[in-house]
Amino acid sequence: MAIKRIFSGIQPTGDLHLGNYYGAVQNWVGLQNGDSETIYCVVDYHAITGGIEPEQLPQRSLQLAGDLIACGIDPERSILFVQSHVPEHTELAWVFNAFAAYGDLSRMTQFKDKSGRTKHVNSGLFTYPVLQAADILLYLADGVPVGEDQAQHLELTRGIARRFNQIAGVEFFPETQILLTEGKRIMSLADPTRKMGKSYGEKHYVGIMEPPKRVAKKIKSAVTDAGGESRDALSPGVANLLGLLRLAGKDVEADDFEAQALSGDLMYGYLKVAVADATVELLEPIQARRAALSDDDIRAILADGAARARDIAGSVMAEVRSLIGVGAGRI
Ligand code: TYM
Repeated sequence: MAIKRIFSGIQPTGDLHLGNYYGAVQNWVGLQNGDSETIYCVVDYHAITGGIEPEQLPQRSLQLAGDLIACGIDPERSILFVQSHVPEHTELAWVFNAFAAYGDLSRMTQFKDKSGRTKHVNSGLFTYPVLQAADILLYLADGVPVGEDQAQHLELTRGIARRFNQIAGVEFFPETQILLTEGKRIMSLADPTRKMGKSYGEKHYVGIMEPPKRVAKKIKSAVTDAGGESRDALSPGVANLLGLLRLAGKDVEADDFEAQALSGDLMYGYLKVAVADATVELLEPIQARRAALSDDDIRAILADGAARARDIAGSVMAEVRSLIGVGAGRI
């Protein structure tokens, strides 16, 4: 079935990196050319589950929105807004708390991972995927472009929608489809056995806005051979670098390097230079567009985006209230 409306979100925590770009944002940009309506959101209410930083959070949300625009999110073709500017997100999340199963939430691997690394495990970390389901379903979105790490949260979203529909006795929320890309799981440069992420530290990721010299330096110090790999399989580090080269549009070069790797002739240094050059080439126009954007331009885009998002969110939420029997004017 054709997808009518696409929704996706990103947290304003840390720098936008190549994992975000290849796993999600590049796909968000491409999807603007299709027939579906596209809605993209900077999810600041999600970010507070990782810590409360009232001084930095607004600036981070603004920065990230600017970075997304520089990557190609076009406010003429997409709605781009900040989650907390549309209060219905948290309202629907509360409603969904009455539909999500405790057992399902306790099986979420991201919760287990994050709660294992935190001293004070706030319950927002636990109910995080319920808010994510609300983000998506508040717009009745049926397509969600994300990286593979979000697959479990999307399964939960489908479960909540099904249960809601069953109890309400109408097919109100759509079945949401996950939209993955070739870059659905980009690995860390410093430890290619885990995914590239902002939370592991500087050397694990390449930031989209990092200066070319730093990008090259990080890629050149990427781990290629952890030792112990068999000769006829690619090591995780080499596989990741080859993936990055292909994603930067250099398939022919990547085929060549892959053949060398499999025959044991690969000089890692050459592969790294090729990946660094291709990545810098990809990032240059993005960084140039970013430099031309002022904070006021971004604020205006976000204000317009929030107004458009509120139109949809307001009417969906009014129907939800009516379906579950809450809200002013009903008594
Ligand atoms: P977040 O902010 O961690 O990441 C944003 C997007 O980047 C993808 N991603 C990756 N893809 C490939 N390889 C990687 N190493 C990599 N690292 C990150 C993520 O899969 C994601 O698509 N819970 C979400 C934010 C969210 C959301 C939503 C997403 C909140 N509400 C509704 C979709 C729909 C998150 O923390 O993404």
